Amino acid sequence: MSLRLLTAGESHGPELAVIVEGVPAGVEVDSDEIDGQLERRRGGYGRGVRSTKIEHDHAEIVSGVSGSRTTGAPLALRIVNRDFANQPSAPVPLTTPRPGHADLAGATKHGHSDFRVVRERASARETAARVAAAAVIRPFLKEFGISLGSFVVAIGAAEMPIDLGRFTAESLRELAAAAEADPVRCPDPAASDRMVAAIDRARDDRQTLGGTFVVFAPGVPIGLGSYTHWDLRLDGRLAQAICSIPAIKGVEIGPGFELATRTGTEGQDAILGSPDKLVRGSNFAGGVEGGMSNGQPIVIRAAMKPLSSTRAPAQSVDLRTGLAADPPYIRSDICAVPAAAVVGEAMLAWVLAQSLLERFGGDRLDLDLAGFREASANPIPGVRG
Ligand SMILES: Cc1cc2nc3c(=O)[nH]c(=O)nc-3n(C[C@H](O)[C@H](O)[C@H](O)COP(=O)(O)O)c2cc1C
Repeated sequence: MSLRLLTAGESHGPELAVIVEGVPAGVEVDSDEIDGQLERRRGGYGRGVRSTKIEHDHAEIVSGVSGSRTTGAPLALRIVNRDFANQPSAPVPLTTPRPGHADLAGATKHGHSDFRVVRERASARETAARVAAAAVIRPFLKEFGISLGSFVVAIGAAEMPIDLGRFTAESLRELAAAAEADPVRCPDPAASDRMVAAIDRARDDRQTLGGTFVVFAPGVPIGLGSYTHWDLRLDGRLAQAICSIPAIKGVEIGPGFELATRTGTEGQDAILGSPDKLVRGSNFAGGVEGGMSNGQPIVIRAAMKPLSSTRAPAQSVDLRTGLAADPPYIRSDICAVPAAAVVGEAMLAWVLAQSLLERFGGDRLDLDLAGFREASANPIPGVRG
């Protein structure tokens, strides 16, 4: 059984609906943990009124759990949209498409004359559903020793210095722990101050900001993904999943873009130690070699564009009148990079769980773990280590 996620619901509809299929039986489900992840997504300095004042998300588990454990049947969750209650009873149709949004392409694709119809589903509100789904699967990953984390590296031009190919599992965990207590989820206090100041300036200038964040996963066993089929390559799947987050325009595995400037020798991760205990000299590969996890932490950096809804005027055309028009400003975040990092964790969790289940079964947690232990004890038949 493969792991599948289906989300439904409009941004200002009554609720978001989530169906998760393929979670093995026996995985502990903790409702508070799911809500805790939703709370992380809601936060971050620079968010708008909806996130800070209106939504306090709670995921109600509707099916697929008995006691506190998954049954192997599909899980259904619902997240009520509190902002639904604030909707005008007769909303004004949106006829001037907003640049940088799904409005024009979506309306053309489906033949809608009111762009609100597109906006309602294209909105990043949908990512709350993804975060809830991933929160269900995170305890499963934990059983296999996999942890996840993230931190913000840049907001606009304010950046913390990092060396993407040299992080260890410990240093990544420390950075993520420090980020958790920071208003922009940046572990470097001086850089964080600059980021907060940049967001304040952007607000004053009626602008928005993007930035970059790192998501990572230590403890991933060797061999998730595949070198035999293009569509099962772990790096390809990770890039797709991270790029599927609204406003993400760039993804690198490890220091991908910096690697392009190095020689072959400079870009290698030396294989050191003995067959009993092999270690790697660096992690320029970002934990993926040949489309498979290589036992090193998975390290990904993603780039988020500046949010397209600004209070400054934008150029567009009112498709009802045919005249040039400034599209209506719709309440917006100034910066959502800290929230996007949490969504990035969710997407990383999702792809890793999919790949784990493909490798180790998927009906029962105990059997999956037995297969995993067997594979760990006997990595290459006939070879020591
Ligand atoms: C957590 C999160 C919050 C977002 N909030 C906003 C927002 O308030 N205003 C905005 O213009 N875009 C926001 N976006 C980005 C838009 O949803 C996205 O740019 C738009 O749907 C078009 O998709 P694209 O940028 O991937 O092409 C947000 C994205 C994320 C991940």
